Amino acid sequence: MPQSKIILITGCSSGFGLLMAARLASKGHRVIATMRNLDKQAPLHDEMRARGGALDIFAMDVTNKDSIQNVVTEIGAKYGTIDVLINNAGYGMGGFFEDLTDEEIRSQMETNFFGVQNVTRAVIPFMRQQRAGKIINISSVAGFSGSPCFGAYNASKWALEGFSESLHHELAFWGINVLLVEPGTYKTKIFYENAQYSENFYNEQSPYYEISKFLEKRVKDYVDDCHKDPEDVAALVEKLINAKNPSFRSIPDIESQCMYLLRKFLPFRVYRWFIRKGLFKEFQSRQ
Ligand SMILES: NC(=O)c1ccc[n+]([C@@H]2O[C@H](COP(=O)([O-])OP(=O)(O)OC[C@H]3O[C@@H](n4cnc5c(N)ncnc54)[C@H](OP(=O)(O)O)[C@@H]3O)[C@@H](O)[C@H]2O)c1
Repeated sequence: MPQSKIILITGCSSGFGLLMAARLASKGHRVIATMRNLDKQAPLHDEMRARGGALDIFAMDVTNKDSIQNVVTEIGAKYGTIDVLINNAGYGMGGFFEDLTDEEIRSQMETNFFGVQNVTRAVIPFMRQQRAGKIINISSVAGFSGSPCFGAYNASKWALEGFSESLHHELAFWGINVLLVEPGTYKTKIFYENAQYSENFYNEQSPYYEISKFLEKRVKDYVDDCHKDPEDVAALVEKLINAKNPSFRSIPDIESQCMYLLRKFLPFRVYRWFIRKGLFKEFQSRQ
């Protein structure tokens, strides 16, 4: 049995965060599961009852530095340190660039990019002091492959990737390992209850209205038909925590591993053809 670690996770009210928290706690790790709204903790308790084990649940909004500091202070007092930080909290803002407001784009960056920095900044001193630790950032295929209508999300994850690579080098001096996980599409609330679209996405006067509606349906059909198990992401993260020398970048699903290789090795004009063929061909043929 691997040594028990003190693990802080953001965004545990649903999806990957909930599954990672429950899985790791049931394996004997001391998990501090955080969520911005404690009224949403019942599903995590249900999952813990099913799997067995115990964890701490604290309120944390990654855009609110006071709430982060409160949690980190409590962990310091109770456990003295943090071995692993999993930056998972996030959401996706849909909308073509001209339909998105500055505020919508900034808000996306506040959570998916600056939110990660806020929590990471508060946690690094613990890890630096013990000269050990892992920071696992949940990015996405959207962090290396752009798609129309999701530019704000792409930008937030792309920024997260650049930051993570830089921090990977900076913190190596202190024995801290920064890692990226890049999942493809999994059926979680990010595509349903938590899905967010720009206000103009629903504006019939927008020049992008028809294509937005078309893409919204394409995404919905694709996700409805998606049968990958989000538990695979939790299993991969557990492997990364236990591994002595894990890869900087990990992609849980084969589909996205192929996408990564195509993006890396195909000339962009060929890769672009695949993306546009998949997304636009049907729409164009209807015009
Ligand atoms: N599902 C996928 O296909 C997929 C693919 C690639 C990457 N990802 C990434 O995986 C991560 C988890 O997403 P998911 O699929 O598990 O979606 P999810 O079920 O919607 O979970 C997202 C979690 O993030 C939380 N959150 C959002 N904003 C927050 C904030 N400001 N402070 C604290 N928590 C906040 C949500 O809390 P509330 O309940 O309060 O909203 C929720 O707990 C995200 O970073 C996402 O970008 C997902």
